[in-house]
Amino acid sequence: MDYLSINKEAWDKRTKVHVDSKFYDVEAFKDGKSSLNRIELEQVGNVEGKNLLHLQCHFGQDTLSWARQGAKVTGVDLSTEAIEQANKLKLALGLDATFVANDIYQFGNENTEKFDIVFTSYGVICWLPELNLWAKTIASSLAIGGEFHLVEFHTFNDLLCGYSYFPRSEPDVEDEGTYTENCDGTKSKMVTWAHSLSEVINALISAGLSIEHFKEYPYSPYNCFEDLEYISGQGYQMLHKGQQVPLFYSIKARKIA
Ligand SMILES: C[S@@+](CC[C@H](N)C(=O)[O-])C[C@H]1O[C@@H](n2cnc3c(N)ncnc32)[C@H](O)[C@@H]1O
Repeated sequence: MDYLSINKEAWDKRTKVHVDSKFYDVEAFKDGKSSLNRIELEQVGNVEGKNLLHLQCHFGQDTLSWARQGAKVTGVDLSTEAIEQANKLKLALGLDATFVANDIYQFGNENTEKFDIVFTSYGVICWLPELNLWAKTIASSLAIGGEFHLVEFHTFNDLLCGYSYFPRSEPDVEDEGTYTENCDGTKSKMVTWAHSLSEVINALISAGLSIEHFKEYPYSPYNCFEDLEYISGQGYQMLHKGQQVPLFYSIKARKIA
């Protein structure tokens, strides 16, 4: 199955809808609002003068938010529509950034540049069939001493939604609409893979990265799942049998050799 073509087509279609959505609020972003959340801002810290690679950057709001904070940024995404929109946004705002349309494994094979920071977030891992290759791409893109930062949806919620927690040999292939409020007519075939937390962590360790931080969070900055409840000052939470569900996790790892 040509999963890259299937997912590229779906993400091209989604991107066209996302740029007009309240969820992504491009107008507020153009007016100066950062699209980054407290979790990643606190974890990554000062990026001034740093060379930052953003994997699966979508249409670039987070990438350009890091640029606004002084980083020299490169964003990579499979969707040519997303990269086109990212370049438009960059030009409209007069920001400096390089956007590359590519599969991240292919990017990893071709890239020779070394980055101080590799960043990726919110809905990235499920699109990848193989995490050892993903982790190798991250490790080979980092300079010695460089940091990797991941903020990702917790797979516990996938389990509650009826998906496998543990990796399976076959992907899930489904017709799915997008997660923004203007999602009518966005149903497209998509191919995703289940990856457990231990698979993520072991892939990073096998690629030679040293894990310095791992944290799980019960509050989401995004209202993007069913049955979420807003808790003032915290974000959205989900209860299962009266207990909080872990909705996100974050990992910081370093290339030490
Ligand atoms: C949920 S979005 C990332 C969310 C991002 N944090 C945001 O909201 O701006 C997932 C992105 O992964 C990209 N993607 C999926 N498979 C990919 C692959 N193999 N290589 C590169 N990008 C990929 C999609 O095109 C999409 O833009």
